[in-house]
Amino acid sequence: MRLLLTVLLSLCAFQYALAQDPVFMTNVYGRTFESLNGKWNVLVDCYDIGERRHFEKNAKAVGDEDFVEYSFDGAMRLNVPGDWNSQSPELKYYEGVMWYGRNFNVRKSERQRKFLYFCGVSYRCKVFLNGKFVGEHEGSFTPFQFEVTDLLKDGDNFLCLKVSNVRTKDAIPAMNFDWWNYGGITRDVLLVTTPETYVNEYFVRLDDGNPHKIRVTLGLSGKVERSVKVEIPELELSAEVTTDTNGQAELVMASDKIELWSPGNPKLYRTVISSGDDTVSEDIGFRTLSVDGTRILLNGKPCFMKSISFHEEIPQRMGRAFSESDARMLLGEAAALGANMVRLAHYPQNEYIVRLAERMGIILWEEIPLWQGIDFSNEDTRRKAVAMYREMLFRDRNRCAVCFWGLANETRPSAARNAFLENVLQIARAMDDTRLYVIADDVAKWNDGKGLFEMDDPLTDKVDVVAVNRYMGWYAPWPKAPAECRWNVAAGKPLIISEFGGEALYGVHGEGHRASSWSEDYQANLMRDNIEMFKNIDNLAGISPWILFDFRSPYRLSPGNQDGWNRKGLLSDQGLRKKAWYVIRDFYDGCGYGPDLTD
Ligand code: GCU
Repeated sequence: MRLLLTVLLSLCAFQYALAQDPVFMTNVYGRTFESLNGKWNVLVDCYDIGERRHFEKNAKAVGDEDFVEYSFDGAMRLNVPGDWNSQSPELKYYEGVMWYGRNFNVRKSERQRKFLYFCGVSYRCKVFLNGKFVGEHEGSFTPFQFEVTDLLKDGDNFLCLKVSNVRTKDAIPAMNFDWWNYGGITRDVLLVTTPETYVNEYFVRLDDGNPHKIRVTLGLSGKVERSVKVEIPELELSAEVTTDTNGQAELVMASDKIELWSPGNPKLYRTVISSGDDTVSEDIGFRTLSVDGTRILLNGKPCFMKSISFHEEIPQRMGRAFSESDARMLLGEAAALGANMVRLAHYPQNEYIVRLAERMGIILWEEIPLWQGIDFSNEDTRRKAVAMYREMLFRDRNRCAVCFWGLANETRPSAARNAFLENVLQIARAMDDTRLYVIADDVAKWNDGKGLFEMDDPLTDKVDVVAVNRYMGWYAPWPKAPAECRWNVAAGKPLIISEFGGEALYGVHGEGHRASSWSEDYQANLMRDNIEMFKNIDNLAGISPWILFDFRSPYRLSPGNQDGWNRKGLLSDQGLRKKAWYVIRDFYDGCGYGPDLTD
């Protein structure tokens, strides 16, 4: 029965992957757009009455008989992009509905199309324009767009969103997660202008891992046969292709001059794609990626993942990160640590972070927030997971820095969870088979008789790389001296220790051997102990201490030590480096694990 279920899910998976239209245009920042960021007026709708009262109509009491009991005019103002929790003390813990409204002017012209493109709204929203429902979206961390060509008025328009961050059992993430439940229009809002027919989507990458061939898969916005040109001037490459009756086309270009992207040489090429009166361009890198036994090869050479994680949060501002300067702060500290990879915890982070990491030569692991307690037996939840995965892949598949798609984090093996994740994995691979798929598990168990860690999860046979989160010395005692802890997990495959560490309050010193000391010394000793253990893991292909910065979490209630912060950061919530930061920096500087890529 289970086999039949898996086969059926796989079939519909494959069909789903091929049949779907692209979810939004590729490379929105490379297009013609007007930013709708700024101060928006908001109504805090604690009782969710706004739809019944039609707040989207933005009604005004004009006649004597008119009675309107709400108004965006004169209401509270919030910055967009930005979470609401960090913009007002009263909203710090707010979990509910918020109505956003703003006016904007448009000059419409013939043969142009207009789209509202939202880079991220947390967690679900309904969009209204000039009082009319335009569409809705669920999921905080991936973009979505709606065409509004016919809804827009020439002149003044009123854009209104109903946003809710209320947690629900069927959501992703679900009821509990170890980060702040930020709500709001947390990323850029753009009004995009395109010609009637435009280059809607494209995927540019090496052809089946061949370092001398580039494959471009592209699609126009309409089912039209039209010539499309692809140029990479620095490689003196230019090719034209005519789309089929579905507006789709594919081409391959050869060059023996391609300089491969790597952490040591983050080479990117200006790539221009044009058709008719539409041109879109961006910088794209090329690299090969594969697994050879227990090693991860980048451009054919072993590359040990010296990783770190961070949440999409600026701790000093106590809010979600959303800008280019925020990206520079987070990635700057990752680079200073000596990391060559960032595991973007636990969700697709904003494009500024992804694109800057690529320019800096930092490998990325991206995942959707299938975090611990997910309703795996719910078909709606599975559809949401597939939609979120599709949106993440469509947004970032041209980013060569993204080498890993993460499947899930700390989900317990079960028939429902295994079938659910296998289905998501099948669909993802059908969309993008150029990257490595990894799962982060926390079900490794110590076998005292054998003196080693083992793990039993059928998904480890399906992914390319296996990762384990393990907090010895914090959530579990060391079963033996660290140097004596051996591992037999995912033998024959690359293994990444994707989370380890413990908490320390910056400035607390001493008692380096007592977990409840909350001291920097204890945390630093934890890092040293883990490094000791790593030497015994034959198939170790990377490590990623948890986590770069202290971050906000409703889980963390130890007064005086946590006060709503998870203190596992190597840096404090003020951006100050703890002793553990230096332990990891020295290890990354001098670790002899496999040659790092320097050329
Ligand atoms: C888990 C989880 C993290 C969490 C961490 C912790 O492994 O993946 O999201 O923050 O442990 O407990 O600090």
